[in-house]
Parts: sequence; C-alpha cells; structure tokens
Amino acid sequence: MPVMRTSKGNVTQAARNKSGMKGDEDKKGKFPVFDERSALSAIKLRQSELAQQHGKYVPIALKIAPDLDDAQIAAIAALLMMHRIDAVIATNTTLARDAVAGLPYAGEAGGLSGAPVRAASTRVIAALAHHLKNEVPIIGVGGILSGADAQEKIAAGASLVQLYTGLIYRGPALVRECVQRLA
Ligand SMILES: Cc1cc2nc3c(=O)[nH]c(=O)nc-3n(C[C@H](O)[C@H](O)[C@H](O)COP(=O)(O)O)c2cc1C
Repeated sequence: MPVMRTSKGNVTQAARNKSGMKGDEDKKGKFPVFDERSALSAIKLRQSELAQQHGKYVPIALKIAPDLDDAQIAAIAALLMMHRIDAVIATNTTLARDAVAGLPYAGEAGGLSGAPVRAASTRVIAALAHHLKNEVPIIGVGGILSGADAQEKIAAGASLVQLYTGLIYRGPALVRECVQRLA
C-alpha cells in the first residue's frame, strides 16, 4: 500500500470504505450499493452463530470516516444502537485536504492520517457521543501525536484511544505520555 509523508501526516492509498456513507461513489456505480442496515444485521447474526459454535463472544466494532456530516453521524449512531454493535472506532483517514492545502503532496489521492485529521476525528467523536449517550463505547483515533491529543479524544467522549501515525513520528514514548496524561 503506497504511503506518502506530508507534514505530520501520511497520505494512504487504502481500500476505501465501500459503504454509501462515504459519499456518492456507490451511486455512480463504482462500487456495489451497500445496505448498511442489512449488512449490520447479517454481521450480528453471524457473530451470534459463531459465539454459539465456539462458546466465545467476539466483539465487533464499526469503524467510520471523519468526512461525515451531522445527519450522517446521527444516522450511524442510530444504526449502532439498533444493531447493538459492540463499539465504534472514530475515525479512519480523511479524504479532505483543507488541513494540508498548499503543502507538497496535498493533491495526492487516498486517505490522509496524522495531525491533519485530528480535529475532524474529534468532531465526529463528540457528535457520536452526543447521540450514543454511553450506549456504545467509542474508540478515538485520528491525529493523536501527544498525550494532550489523547486527552482531547477522551474529553470528546471516547472510552479508549488508538495510536497509529503518532507511533511513526513519536515511537513508543508516545504511549507512556498518553498513559501519564490520562492517569
Ligand atoms: C498506512 C496506513 C494504513 C492503514 N490501514 C488501515 C486498515 O487496514 N484498516 C483500518 O481500519 N484502518 C487503517 N488505517 C487507518 C488508521 O487505523 C487510523 O484510523 C487513521 O490513520 C487515523 O489515525 P492516525 O491519525 O493516528 O493515523 C491505516 C492508516 C495508515 C496511515
């Protein structure tokens, strides 16, 4: 998977989320139309079958994009609660380029991670927390490059945080800093 480094962020040409939630791609026929409601039902049914079969319940988290408006976030929150999804991970990389406008590689295609996605991810977490009212735990990820960034996600409503790009720039010391900040 090609990765392009920008200012404290990476542009990743990753397989995009193929749900209708990512925008108009599905409608243009690029991907098959994806019905979130029946897909989540099918996933929960299979989760339950496998739990019975193996005597072990494995939680399933839905991961979402930061490029969602408030109505889309509200709709996703309703689906998460309706289907009793175990957790939501907010967020994946962004397709937006506002935070890196004018920088080298800003025009490259793919998902952008790191510092440029931080604010958008935190906004999605806060909106999700508002709608979910603690019914579904939120795993906060996106642009955590310091303990303060991790605290921002928790303050916005996340129960856990995930480090990704921050580990590339800061190494394992970032984990210690986050733990100390959140202690
Ligand atoms: C090189 C790279 C590969 C990634 N691969 C995946 C993946 O396979 N599945 C996934 O859910 N998220 C993937 N992500 C998204 C990250 O898990 C994370 O949600 C996103 O990068 C935002 O967090 P960050 O700013 O800390 O990197 C990838 C991100 C990068 C930079």
